[in-house]
Amino acid sequence: MNEFIERYERYRNIIDRRLATVIDRDEPVTMYEPARYVLSGGGKRIRPVLVMLACQAAGGDPMDAVEAGTAVEILHNFTLVHDDIMDRADTRRGRETVHRKWDENIAILVGDELMGIAYKTLLNTERGDVRALTRVFTDGVIEVCEGQSYDKEFEALPSVTEEQYFMMISKKTGWLVAISAEMGAIIGGADATQTAALVEYARCVGRAFQVQDDLLDVVADKEKLGKPIGGDILEGKKTFLLVHALNAAEGADRDLLRSVATQTAGRDHLVERVTAVYDRLGVLDDARRNIEADTAAALRALDELEDNEGRRMLAWLAHMLLERKH
Ligand code: IPE
Ligand code: IPE
Ligand code: MG
Ligand code: MG
Ligand code: MG
Repeated sequence: MNEFIERYERYRNIIDRRLATVIDRDEPVTMYEPARYVLSGGGKRIRPVLVMLACQAAGGDPMDAVEAGTAVEILHNFTLVHDDIMDRADTRRGRETVHRKWDENIAILVGDELMGIAYKTLLNTERGDVRALTRVFTDGVIEVCEGQSYDKEFEALPSVTEEQYFMMISKKTGWLVAISAEMGAIIGGADATQTAALVEYARCVGRAFQVQDDLLDVVADKEKLGKPIGGDILEGKKTFLLVHALNAAEGADRDLLRSVATQTAGRDHLVERVTAVYDRLGVLDDARRNIEADTAAALRALDELEDNEGRRMLAWLAHMLLERKH
């Protein structure tokens, strides 16, 4: 186990070091200070490590994937800065969000700037078809925006179906995870079978990742999570939990959940009250089972690949994400 953690830490450090040099200007200070703040804020760096591991699993050198991995991480960070404006979130990774520490105009502009830096970094990639890489990356940008759009649209709806929920999360979260694997595959020179297996693995991991994110919003420890518990409940987010609970609840429970869904609920102890209903209806366990099933499906997808260090790391990564606390 330790050798896996060590390798993950090693890859994560490589990405962190690259992120520390990716901004090479200081002025205007109102732009570059918050931009550096975002990129130096920690984060698990799951996506860039996945780019490196997919490249390695395909038989390539993971170091060839560092620029593309860094690009995906910058893109991810851009989406977080704007997501926090949209979700009215004050805290992320245990620190004030950009629009709170500075203001919304700065947060909007920093997001735009990060997107530019992401493309610039991607274009440093020296192995693989850069045009194919850029196409995949750009599809990622478009899909994330669509997903975020559905996420906000759904806030205004009294309920959504399970199918709508999975469509939305495959775009807002799953896609960036999937393109991470696909970009690694391109750089590593994967054939069609390897690429399909890596993308399928990442789709399953991405789905599990967002269901887990929804679950952690309710069950995590605030300090470990780096943000307050229950933000999704207060915003009327159509999470895995709310979608499933709305289907199962009756009577007063149903009334409460409906008021959460339409953002008309009284805020007094709301998070505790809703969490108790989720628990009683068993949707927390439904979420756990769902995450486990997707993790198992991700591991099955890896069977298509030849056994090597990269593949073993991908299997470990899927297990590690099951256990994550933030
Ligand atoms: C948070 O992503 C947003 C989602 C897509 C769920 P991460 O959980 O990967 O956030 P960091 O980068 O580790 O902070
Ligand atoms: C994350 O969704 C999706 C994107 C940022 C694109 P969330 O809104 O659930 O992410 P957190 O919980 O704020 O990290
Ligand atoms: Mg959001
Ligand atoms: Mg959010
Ligand atoms: Mg969330």
